Amino acid sequence: MSFYVTTPIYYVNAAPHLGHAYTTIAADVMARHHRQRGEEVFFLTGTDEHGEPVADAAHALGIEPQELADRNAERFKALAPQLSATNDFFIRTTDPQHEAVVQEVLSRVRENGFVYMGTYEGWYCPRCADFKADNEVDEGNRCPIHHIKLTREQEDNYFFKLSAFQDRLEALYAEREDFVAPRTRYNEALSFIRSGLRDVPLTRHKLTWGVKVPWDPEHVFYVWFDALLNYYSALSYAPAPGGVAGAGGEAGAGGDLTDVFWPASYHVIAKDILRFHTVYWPALLMAAEIELPEHVFVHGYLLMEGEKMSKSLGNVLDPFAVIERFGADALRFYLLRDVQFGQDGSVSTSSFELRYESELANELGNLASRTIGMLSRYRDGAVSRGDLDPALAADFDGLAERVAAHVDRAELTLALDEIWQRVRRLNRYVEEQAPWVLAKDEARAEELDRVLRSLAEGLRSVTVLLWPYLPSSAERLLGALGAPELTLAGAELGAGTIEHVEPLDSLFPKDLQPVDSPPAQ
Ligand code: MSP
Repeated sequence: MSFYVTTPIYYVNAAPHLGHAYTTIAADVMARHHRQRGEEVFFLTGTDEHGEPVADAAHALGIEPQELADRNAERFKALAPQLSATNDFFIRTTDPQHEAVVQEVLSRVRENGFVYMGTYEGWYCPRCADFKADNEVDEGNRCPIHHIKLTREQEDNYFFKLSAFQDRLEALYAEREDFVAPRTRYNEALSFIRSGLRDVPLTRHKLTWGVKVPWDPEHVFYVWFDALLNYYSALSYAPAPGGVAGAGGEAGAGGDLTDVFWPASYHVIAKDILRFHTVYWPALLMAAEIELPEHVFVHGYLLMEGEKMSKSLGNVLDPFAVIERFGADALRFYLLRDVQFGQDGSVSTSSFELRYESELANELGNLASRTIGMLSRYRDGAVSRGDLDPALAADFDGLAERVAAHVDRAELTLALDEIWQRVRRLNRYVEEQAPWVLAKDEARAEELDRVLRSLAEGLRSVTVLLWPYLPSSAERLLGALGAPELTLAGAELGAGTIEHVEPLDSLFPKDLQPVDSPPAQ
């Protein structure tokens, strides 16, 4: 079994912000979960470095696009580990190996008869790097996303015959209802297709910052075709992830992983780039005779004060400030818990702090410290062997499968909720069983043993399942339980044997500075 998940490659015209962090975190949760299932996993992220958005930003700073790209690519590269994201490779579209694949694949598209020379006339947003039809621009000919005034462009370009794929795309959507999720996004993509596809520019003449068109070096490829191909090109030169033998290559050597990981299992994106991924991308792959990805999952926007967060709108919540004060785990948890994955949701420092305190500190943190505390106090840390409480066990029955089924559909918030209900169940169990009462009565020692064992095992089970969301905290906690096993099969209640627990410092300390206060001197 192999699993290949991607994030969009981010534009290097600006620094990373919470919106980018969000997608990377979500893809990482999926990658980690699938690794827990023992699958061969490849997780790709990277940067989109060509095109007008980057060229314009560089010129505004008085530097060359390559310099801006180098500078900002480093910042995106550094973001992933700060989020505890475990990407297997970081692709840059200025990698020469990527450029060669773009040239090769798009030449094939031309040889297959899907490219012709034409004249483009219409609206163009340099921030989106997107051509817009008359009915797609706001009043005053403004970009509906960036609100900037658009210019009408006229250019001789090579075109991609998107219209030739009308029937095949409709057939794809009819045959594979899970190609795009959630359903609202599937419907949106399908209705765009049904409204009638028009051919789109494949190259740009005015621009020089891009991959050169091999059959006409006066042109560069339109940045979106260059960018989309990253998902495919990366596999041809990325080093094999640990444990995977690349066809003909080994880690660091750049083996060809295409046979192992293509087609991609999931492209995770936000709705701003829906059309490129759900219409252009499958059509392009069809034109190049490459197999289509399995799923595109389209999540919503993180909103602040009702507007999509973006650098150009200047309303950015700094993920680094959150991480610095509370750690990456807390950010990961908050974003996937508070905003239903797949829908838009508002984020704020106050709702972050509320979740941190009420759920991470008071629910999971307390459960861990109570369980370990009582085992230390009453049993010197030793966990007895024997049966688990059947009533509690019944409430955990099939949990790992349900979580897996949700993650299979990229329902990351629902999966987390399944787990969190068990965290709450365990806290109720403590209250119901009142181990402190049992501990006072020697005659009930066996009962106490069973309650403590059930609690420890329940805690272990939820912690294994929480690992993709809270990797560092989960590892610390499993370490204290003496049960480092992370596989999903091992998440079953009763699958592990905890013999002895060790004391643990508070997992989610409460005496932290609020997010928006200045750091303590
Ligand atoms: N370079 C293109 C993508 C090419 S993929 C072949 C691009 N880059 S981007 O830097 O603008 O990144 C857009 C993506 O960043 C979104 O699709 C989403 O994954 C993430 N997000 C950016 N802002 C976001 C929010 N406010 N909310 C949610 N996701 C956000 O488009």
